[in-house]
Amino acid sequence: MLDAGTGSGRLALMLAPLCRAVVGVDRDAKLIDEARRQAAAAGLSNVRFVVGDVEVEEYAPFKPDLVAAYLCMSDAIAERAGRALRAGQVFAFVALHTDQWKETGRPSRFAYGETGARRLLKRTGFTVDHLEVERDVKAFASVEEGLAAAVGLQEKWKVDGRWFRYVKFLEDGGRTLTRAHLVVKARKA
Ligand SMILES: C[S@@+](CC[C@H](N)C(=O)[O-])C[C@H]1O[C@@H](n2cnc3c(N)ncnc32)[C@H](O)[C@@H]1O
Repeated sequence: MLDAGTGSGRLALMLAPLCRAVVGVDRDAKLIDEARRQAAAAGLSNVRFVVGDVEVEEYAPFKPDLVAAYLCMSDAIAERAGRALRAGQVFAFVALHTDQWKETGRPSRFAYGETGARRLLKRTGFTVDHLEVERDVKAFASVEEGLAAAVGLQEKWKVDGRWFRYVKFLEDGGRTLTRAHLVVKARKA
């Protein structure tokens, strides 16, 4: 398995006992160091971690039978998975869905909707086995509750302009905050 954007190796470490061999790739060298430490601590000998850009490097040299990507998804990743996998092999990913934080009026540039994801998978040579949206919509009784729910995001949202739109949404009577992920399993045609 190739885990694209492995971070500190959460998914790679979890799945290593079920796989013959796992390679986790991330461009953040500090996270890769942490992943290597955790693999050593767990005594896992079939997993390795590599610093690299999964939107630039090709995956074929890793010879993956399965490409996974958890919250690291882009057209470039699907294209590389499509070029590396053979017929019947699986590309599984979780991406931000376009409804993620829709109350802030600004979809993430990394988000996919169902139609966009299906179109991308078709273009990159996959058929869809499974595609679902996991949603968690928090509902609030007051503006204060809504603000409290996003307090950890405030600094980030102030920088990217979402915070003021979210405050306006709450002041205008909105009382929700949506998290939404697209969960996909696709197979090389
Ligand atoms: C939201 S984190 C998810 C990490 C991991 N998949 C997990 O579930 O814990 C996204 C990760 O993707 C990595 N990433 C984003 N773009 C990348 C790229 N082009 N090449 C390699 N890694 C990338 C980031 O460094 C970060 O570690």
